[in-house]
Amino acid sequence: MTHFYAKTKVCYGEGSMDNLKTLPGKHVFIVTDAFIAKTGFVEEVKSHLSMGVLCTIFDKVEADPSLDTITIATHLFMKSEADIIIAIGGGSAIDAAKAIAYFSNHADLLRQPPYLAVVPTTSGTGSEVTSIAVVTDKKNNLKIPLQDDMLIPDLAILDARFTRTMPSSITAATGMDVLTHAIEAYVSTKTNIFTSIYAETAIKIVFKYLPRAYANGDDMEAREQLILASCMAGMAFNNSGLGITHSVAHSLGGLFHIPHGVANAVLLPYVIEFNGFDSGFQYQNIAHCLGLPASSMDEGTNNLLKAVRQLNASLDIPYKISDLDINKDEYINHMPAMVNNILQDICTTTNPKKPSYEDVIRLLQKAW
Ligand SMILES: NC(=O)c1ccc[n+]([C@@H]2O[C@H](COP(=O)([O-])OP(=O)(O)OC[C@H]3O[C@@H](n4cnc5c(N)ncnc54)[C@H](O)[C@@H]3O)[C@@H](O)[C@H]2O)c1
Ligand SMILES: [Zn+2]
Repeated sequence: MTHFYAKTKVCYGEGSMDNLKTLPGKHVFIVTDAFIAKTGFVEEVKSHLSMGVLCTIFDKVEADPSLDTITIATHLFMKSEADIIIAIGGGSAIDAAKAIAYFSNHADLLRQPPYLAVVPTTSGTGSEVTSIAVVTDKKNNLKIPLQDDMLIPDLAILDARFTRTMPSSITAATGMDVLTHAIEAYVSTKTNIFTSIYAETAIKIVFKYLPRAYANGDDMEAREQLILASCMAGMAFNNSGLGITHSVAHSLGGLFHIPHGVANAVLLPYVIEFNGFDSGFQYQNIAHCLGLPASSMDEGTNNLLKAVRQLNASLDIPYKISDLDINKDEYINHMPAMVNNILQDICTTTNPKKPSYEDVIRLLQKAW
């Protein structure tokens, strides 16, 4: 059976914040990070809640939220007896909010799961529409993706004004995460006609608008397009799964704390090379959609590869893993564990080419 499931009410454009006035509950638990707490975004969200709604704020989410932080926040949430969670932030705050909903539901099965609303501030992870929450086990340096349909948010408000404050480096990294979601969804073993339409549109938007948003963070047309692309890529990969770019990025993130989007951006060209002929037809299609010469699978794949490398270079993203802040000896020492984690990562199951242990070693060596 092939399926496409999309549960979230997605709102964008003028007046979309007004959806907060009619939330089905009386007490809101806002989940955000320390930076966002200082931007005035929380006050803006609160100003749209209806009169009399109580508010509790948890603003201590760190990048790549840890199980420790989520445990503390889950206790506070349960004690507050709030019935709505609103996440305001990037993937870290959104995933933390989703994990709080998940763990509180498991701790007390009689409790109704909270209504989950999300206001993303990066474009981004697409987490506002996915059934995944990535949490980090800091003791074992592991990123663990929780997956459950109850984690899919009920409401996503895509207001590009909230992404305007992103510095260019975060704009670049999060935008390349969108591209990686879309390309991996497009070539995945579970791709279908619905996911490929969302993925294709997201890919075109990223190539056209990410360089503009990177060059000028106040380019609101570009910001608006990118927040839509991020959500569309999320819809696509939530249904089709991802690929080994993400499996490697999870490993690099857990062990060396490389930002998720940066890790994906650096790895993506190497994974396109690795998958090569196994998804050449889809890579050829993507190249074709982008208006690149693609008269054969090889020509299409090579031109897509070149275009991704050029996009990375225009965003000042490093060319290889050794250009990131990683010690070579540590990288070599961790390699066997990394390979095992990559092979076991849920994203590897939908990669178009099934990698062997030796394949992953070669990929990690080549990308270094
Ligand atoms: N759940 C999913 O489906 C999914 C998909 C992909 C990635 N992820 C996870 O999401 C996390 C990454 O999320 P992210 O890339 O959005 O980054 P993030 O949420 O970790 O934020 C990165 C930094 O950007 C800052 N920031 C966020 N919005 C800003 C704004 N508008 N202006 C200025 N600064 C801002 C944050 O304060 C933080 O310092 C990772 O843990 C990754 O594993 C989840
Ligand atoms: Zn991602």
